[in-house]
Amino acid sequence: MCGIVGAVAQRNIVSVLIEGLRRLEYRGYDSCGVAVLGENGPVRARSVARVADLDAQVHEGPLKGRTGIAHTRWATHGAPVTDNAHPIFSKDTVALVHNGIIENYESLREMLRGKGYRFVSQTDTEVIAHLIHSVYRGDLFTAVREAITQLHGAYAIAVLHKDQPNTVVGARQGSPLVVGLGDGENFLASDALALAGSTERFIFLEEGDVCELSLDGVRIADRDGNDAQREVRQVAAYGGAVELGPYRHFMQKEIFEQPRAITDTIPQTESFDTSIFGEGAADAFAQIDSLLILACGTSYYSGLTAKYWLESIAKIPTQVEIASEYRYRESVPNPKSLVVVISQSGETADTLAALKHAQSLGHKHTLAVCNVGTSAMVRQTELSFLTHAGREIGVASTKAFTTQLVALFVLAATLAKLRGHLSDEQESGYLKQLRHLPAALNSVLALEPQIIAWSEEFSRKEHALFLGRGMHYPIALEGALKLKEISYIHAEAYPAGELKHGPLALVTEAMPVVTVAPNDALLEKLKSNIQEVRARGGQLYVFADADTKIVNDEGLHVIRMPEHYGLLSPILHVVPLQLLAYHTACARGTDVDKPRNLAKSVTVE
Ligand code: F6R
Repeated sequence: MCGIVGAVAQRNIVSVLIEGLRRLEYRGYDSCGVAVLGENGPVRARSVARVADLDAQVHEGPLKGRTGIAHTRWATHGAPVTDNAHPIFSKDTVALVHNGIIENYESLREMLRGKGYRFVSQTDTEVIAHLIHSVYRGDLFTAVREAITQLHGAYAIAVLHKDQPNTVVGARQGSPLVVGLGDGENFLASDALALAGSTERFIFLEEGDVCELSLDGVRIADRDGNDAQREVRQVAAYGGAVELGPYRHFMQKEIFEQPRAITDTIPQTESFDTSIFGEGAADAFAQIDSLLILACGTSYYSGLTAKYWLESIAKIPTQVEIASEYRYRESVPNPKSLVVVISQSGETADTLAALKHAQSLGHKHTLAVCNVGTSAMVRQTELSFLTHAGREIGVASTKAFTTQLVALFVLAATLAKLRGHLSDEQESGYLKQLRHLPAALNSVLALEPQIIAWSEEFSRKEHALFLGRGMHYPIALEGALKLKEISYIHAEAYPAGELKHGPLALVTEAMPVVTVAPNDALLEKLKSNIQEVRARGGQLYVFADADTKIVNDEGLHVIRMPEHYGLLSPILHVVPLQLLAYHTACARGTDVDKPRNLAKSVTVE
């Protein structure tokens, strides 16, 4: 999604800004731009193509400067055309980049029009640039602080003013912004990753903060206007360039990285110890009587899977909610419920807002399951479990999902132990099974050639149905999500028992029905559901465990999973669905790592 980079230095910083944008490219964008302070005010270059095109423009220009801001835009208000690309100018005096959404932009636009400002873009961002211009009285820092009091919504901004060389002012509310500290130069970005290579010292700004970068320092004011001292964090060698290696796409690479990612995520402890979740976990876990899991998209599906583990192993009531729904509905808070937020990025706006909402309702104990240790979510929760998937570049989440499942299984086992529901024998059995997971995953990955053969068929379809039962129903949901987001095939998932309550009407020869069929207690029920589809001429594509006795037949295509993996089976069964989506998308020729309209980290509502 949108990305910000800013810099103040005694050298030409255009290459730093462009490199920052390059590092943020994987998050998804549809236009980009850069502005520097020239002798007569800000000058800019913008592109509706890739950052590489912007780079070519700045070289040709050439565009040079020591104070600058840059942006990748993921369109929300206004189409991805040059006029809407940031930096947005006000009267050739103020230049501004913005992540987020300004909810009251229409009333502000009317007010500013009344003051004689002319709008040349359809963006909500343009109101911020004009607003700052309208209240500027010789000090940009003060003007920004004054202007943001009129904004409703979420934003991270970086601003330049013609009359203030060597100054970039930033502000954040609801969208992340981080300051990078250099020697005689300072930086600003929406993600520390953008500044790798320029600095390893960062200040993660807090909600409501306004900062002013100059050559020799950074000044920060909190939301009340008081000088704020923020911790400087050392983030070493943050995200070096990620190589594709022998793979065609990052998504494929990330699918194949799962055995390593899981090895790194499994705790090194010899038991399910509360300390895995942080210092205060023993106390917090002892006080809770239920769980409330909040997440979006794929992370939500990992929460749905975990509900089965938490209720069956730990016997603890668990509610799982889509973060964007929870934050706006009236719920009945239970202060004894542990709020668990799950997120790859730790910056998803809806999940962050849901966390805050839960806290405001009196939920005391919070835990983040997250892939980014420096993220807002980890900073805003009492406890955390870091997944060690490593950087996920492909927009479609894969290794983040399976490592989240590992984390959540460890949580379920830890709570089970604490609540007296886990025998020593079960504990060592689960630990052994967890440690064997990477090897089991390698056997599943070896099924790739068979899945490629199926993907040829799928690539010619426009619809697909995914079925699962019990804890494999969320896996069917995840399989359908993967297929739709990267191959653009319409896909839906159902718990197989629901088939005859409606979706069976869709089943014809043209509708492939993907079925997740582990050898668990629900297998016989699932076999009946399979027959219901066959009887209607449906084409079944079944991922069955080796010992299910489901065999290839007319209209019944079977890929055999190497072994049944008990409670951890969802972690294995999702992998062939990831591969099916990936190879189907390749066969259809889509942009697998950057599917249309999607962004890696959804930092707006
Ligand atoms: C789908 C996908 C998204 C994310 C969702 C939440 O492949 O990646 O559905 O899972 O946007 O993102 P995080 O986990 O970063 O909060």
